[in-house]
Amino acid sequence: MSHQRPLLAANWKLNPVTAEAAAELARGVLGRGERLSTEVDVVLCPPYCWLLGVAEILHDSHVELGAQNCYWERSGAYTGEVSAAMLAGWCQWVIVGHSERRSHFGETDEMVARKLAAALESDLNVIACVGEQADDFDSGRSADTVARQTDVLLGEMELHRLRQLVIAYEPVWAIGSGRSAEPEHAYSTMRAIRQRLRERFDQAATEVRLLYGGSVKAANVAAYVELPNCDGCLIGGASLDALEFSRMLAAVAEVYAGAAGRAAE
Ligand code: 13P
Repeated sequence: MSHQRPLLAANWKLNPVTAEAAAELARGVLGRGERLSTEVDVVLCPPYCWLLGVAEILHDSHVELGAQNCYWERSGAYTGEVSAAMLAGWCQWVIVGHSERRSHFGETDEMVARKLAAALESDLNVIACVGEQADDFDSGRSADTVARQTDVLLGEMELHRLRQLVIAYEPVWAIGSGRSAEPEHAYSTMRAIRQRLRERFDQAATEVRLLYGGSVKAANVAAYVELPNCDGCLIGGASLDALEFSRMLAAVAEVYAGAAGRAAE
């Protein structure tokens, strides 16, 4: 939790399989969560092929749309790719560097940095993902690993683009495993990310929101957003259930409402 508006982003990954089911999920989130989306920034990230249909459903709402990936070249002979420039016509957001892109599709830190640069250049807001593998976690190298990943991501990044950037800390061993990170671990690793941002951008580093991701659900989301350096969560599996997602939204809104109440005391 920080002074920034909280953000809850839904990464639907390779789900749902049909356009009808995707539309139903988007309508379900809107129906149950739209009121709360005035207090919490909400981003839904469906597969590419459902972006247009979901965009129509979200039209005129506060809920924003994101893609799960992009390519850095604007156009050309790159069969099967979708460029950041193309996405900018449909979405406000894009995820880059998700660990599943890194592990299943061979994306390196350098490739992710190119995607980030292209997405920022296309005026998209970007959720850039970092996170350590289980062996780095086991040997106490989490902070070092994410600091290095953050350094590569930041690359040549310009100060005026900082507001478009969100960094999601997703420990790879916590994704889809049901084994979420202890909040203290998330806190200390995210502190290393913030530190890198500060070294590079000084005070402006606070403009970058930091998310936690990895087995987040309604029952544990508050424990993360209560952390002083956490501005929200990136949700996988639990975002495929509109009721569960709306419960997470309510939990995040409650944490922030409580903080506002305390500040006013
Ligand atoms: P789960 O919430 O299913 O663990 O996935 C997290 C994730 O990878 C979000 O990008």
